[in-house]
Amino acid sequence: MEKLQVKDKTFAISIPEAEIQKQVRRVAAEIVRDLEGKHPLFLPVLNGAFIFAADLLREVNIPCEVSFIKLASYQGTQSTGEIREVIGLQADITGRHIVIVEDIIDSGLTMAHMLETLQAHNPASISVCALLVKPGALKVEIPIHYKCMEIPNDFIVGYGLDYDGDGRNTRDIYTLVKDPELFSE
Ligand code: IMP
Ligand code: MG
Repeated sequence: MEKLQVKDKTFAISIPEAEIQKQVRRVAAEIVRDLEGKHPLFLPVLNGAFIFAADLLREVNIPCEVSFIKLASYQGTQSTGEIREVIGLQADITGRHIVIVEDIIDSGLTMAHMLETLQAHNPASISVCALLVKPGALKVEIPIHYKCMEIPNDFIVGYGLDYDGDGRNTRDIYTLVKDPELFSE
């Protein structure tokens, strides 16, 4: 299927499953090369990274642990902006080699905040592994050690990523069609 309707928006296929799988395997091999023997702890970020993490970790064939985390957003009582707190961190990360597994890095603000929070627990190392990065949207400098693909500054869905909660359950990745009238099959 080349075209995908998610609620009121039309999307067109932009990264087919085969290309995603190829890049996931490449990044998994890089992780194995760097972290073999270090018993890394993978922290995939829910909800967006659930499919990516499942594919990635089945390729990372070294002893490791996995523990999912989530970001809870709420309005602070006196703060102006939105506060995003890391929840679900059950494993003791002190002295561990951590790999944060994210679906997409857009402005980078979420990841910057997460790095700061996790750093406070004194892990041995923290690496960032992202399925997708939008270099044109980055607002802060963050280290991205493992990156499957770079994409333009467009809105995408599929393979774990959502539009208003829907559209996560596809094998391919789709990009928003700004003018669906012009879309031809
Ligand atoms: P950041 O803090 O701007 O880097 O935002 C990152 C988060 O925004 C990701 O983890 C996604 O949940 C969401 N996001 C950013 N871009 C997209 C997109 O194109 N499609 C779906 N979700 C996105
Ligand atoms: Mg996310």
